[in-house]
Amino acid sequence: MKQKLEDIQQKLHEYKINSSEDLENFRLKYLSRKGLMNDLFEEFKQVPNEMKRDLGKLMNVVKTSVQAKFDEAAEKFKTDKRGNNNQNIDYTLPADLTELGSRHPLNITENQIVAIFNKLGFTMAEGPEIENDWHNFSALNFPPNHPARDMQDTFFIDEEIALRTHTSSVQVRLMQQKNPPLRAIMPGRVYRNEAISARANCFFHQIEGIYIDEKVSFADLKQTLYAFVKDMFGDDVEVRFRPSYFPFTEPSAEMDISCQICKGKGCNICKHSGWVEILGCGMIDPNVLENCGIDSEKYTGFAFGMGIERITMLKYDVKDLRTFFINDTRFLKQFSNV
Ligand code: PHE
Repeated sequence: MKQKLEDIQQKLHEYKINSSEDLENFRLKYLSRKGLMNDLFEEFKQVPNEMKRDLGKLMNVVKTSVQAKFDEAAEKFKTDKRGNNNQNIDYTLPADLTELGSRHPLNITENQIVAIFNKLGFTMAEGPEIENDWHNFSALNFPPNHPARDMQDTFFIDEEIALRTHTSSVQVRLMQQKNPPLRAIMPGRVYRNEAISARANCFFHQIEGIYIDEKVSFADLKQTLYAFVKDMFGDDVEVRFRPSYFPFTEPSAEMDISCQICKGKGCNICKHSGWVEILGCGMIDPNVLENCGIDSEKYTGFAFGMGIERITMLKYDVKDLRTFFINDTRFLKQFSNV
């Protein structure tokens, strides 16, 4: 065995490594799992104990020289993925192009909405997607077992806990935490147990908002929302309010805008009416204020809530809501320069 080691050491000096292939052959011959060094270590196990000390030393010397020779050559001939090495870079090759991503259309819309309300003095608030009954329903004037709870098909986790069905739950949290005046919007994902179709999904995104102060009136609500839609859709957009019902607002309304797809002439999106509903709103019910510890004699407020998907569909003429969630890059790429 000593002889073998000395032979290797000897041959090592004569071994010429002149290319990356030579380097690989060298590695295979000496350093790979089936290479000479490994064989020798196996053989070493059989060596009688009294000889182990001297032979071990010699083995280490040889191993270090093999490794050093390899490292030195590798420095010169190591190649990268394209077969280039330090000595041999073709500077004329085109650069690796990393593809730039683009913002998701829902993000684009959300950012626009947030920016508009920021201009109007609204800050932003967020809260958990898994909510308890109190924040999602009870505080908002949905009594237990009241049919109004069926307005939104809920994913329950247990009796007390559910996936939030609207970001009104964040309004509750904010009202509990802070004293009026309050002016904030709450963007976020919400969940409803609905059949998936071109117009509905089991989760979607909302932005809701509240404004609470002394003497806030329905006129403030209308002016704020007018300012919002004009900024979002342009000065030509027409707006109408229809009376509606929500447990947490009184009076309540839904706001329609003139259909942006057919400009009011009538199409499938607006079901040939020329109008599309974009949000629900109303004056916050005094009960809700009291539930959240706000003096309803002193303060009044309005609230509104809209679906980001709906606004995005109207703004960019997207006909099927499901396209937002499939993440087909052919769809997403169309928004890269918005
Ligand atoms: N939370 C309501 C919904 O999800 C929207 C809404 C918010 C309506 C605030 C009125 C006031 O449908």
